[in-house]
Amino acid sequence: MANSDAADNPFEDIPRPPEEAGQIDEIADLTAQLQDMRYPAPARVLRGVHPKSHGCVRASFEVRRDIAEDLQVGLFAKPGKRYRAWIRFSNAAVRVEHDLKDGKHGSRGMAVKVLDVKGEVLLEDGGERNQDFLMINQPAFAFANAEDYLRLTKTIRENNDDATRFFAPLQVEVPGVSDEQKARILRTFKLVQQLQSVPVANPLEVRYFGAAPFLFGANRVMRFSAEPCDGEKPQVLPETPSEDYLREALIKTLQQKQDICFDFKVQVRGKGEELDIEDASTVWDETETPYVDVAKITIPAPQKNIDGSKQVERCEALVFTPWHSLADHQPLGSINRLRKAVYLASEAHRAVGGKDR
Ligand code: HEM
Repeated sequence: MANSDAADNPFEDIPRPPEEAGQIDEIADLTAQLQDMRYPAPARVLRGVHPKSHGCVRASFEVRRDIAEDLQVGLFAKPGKRYRAWIRFSNAAVRVEHDLKDGKHGSRGMAVKVLDVKGEVLLEDGGERNQDFLMINQPAFAFANAEDYLRLTKTIRENNDDATRFFAPLQVEVPGVSDEQKARILRTFKLVQQLQSVPVANPLEVRYFGAAPFLFGANRVMRFSAEPCDGEKPQVLPETPSEDYLREALIKTLQQKQDICFDFKVQVRGKGEELDIEDASTVWDETETPYVDVAKITIPAPQKNIDGSKQVERCEALVFTPWHSLADHQPLGSINRLRKAVYLASEAHRAVGGKDR
């Protein structure tokens, strides 16, 4: 069955916060308002987040032949199965700006679209059945849940995309912010600081994470990651990084003849283990639950047309959401429930306000 609502699963049988549905609607509305603010007509409306692409590349996604039997689940059911894929590399920043705005590093994205998967999907992708894996270069998402993301979205709406005031409760008493929420704001602050200190010189050379939990078949939960097959390389920035130095690095690397390879890996836990389903700003300790390689992503090189207008247009038109997913890999937890409505809102708004506005 396609386009079904989230299947029942044993991991979200918690009493949902009663205000969550309203928070999600509000964030979806604000996302569209923010797009209008950033791209007044006749400008083309871009993605609500991750609007700046470094490039889209053709790739393949191949399930490992030696995948352990107990991991042969969902997309990974058939050892050796090879899928075609597209990958879009991006900056998370909400505006298209210098890759090193104010000299600070930002969150970098790698979105993988595995094409033509077999089985029940939760949401069709323009009539197709695809499995999207959206990743950032940090193992934890900076915001725990819908409540915190709403505070962020309101803050940037009121302050012309400046998020600084989100952290105000760490310095002054702000009415309505509980001690529990304050502790989460501190964690967000530390995660953002950490992110801003991690240099990325080339989007093809660093590790990415799904940063939230997803189903792994009926009874288990996964977190996923993609890591360069030879490991992360030391990241040495150009002496004077240009505005688009990440795009330049990506294109230059893919002009060479050497294919690029990422190991796609999962951490898997089951009922009874600490899962942190409702808080996306947590990680699972890799020493307790190691990541295991389950597939290989290959980006064939050379790819010469990444900067061509046709490919750039195709890249803009792609729609990624974690809900383009097999039911076996259903997104879980507050942040993921929120993402369902918001990605649809962003996509619908950019489709409406697109090129011909
Ligand atoms: C685990 C947490 C998250 C990760 C790993 C993640 C990652 C990504 C990535 C990689 C993209 C770029 C997709 C592309 O290339 O087209 C993206 C797009 C986007 N993200 Fe997220 N994201 C996360 C959470 C969120 C949350 C909480 C929101 C807001 C509710 C959000 C809103 C968006 C929007 C609006 C887009 C653009 C959608 C479109 O117009 O196609 N993300 N995200």
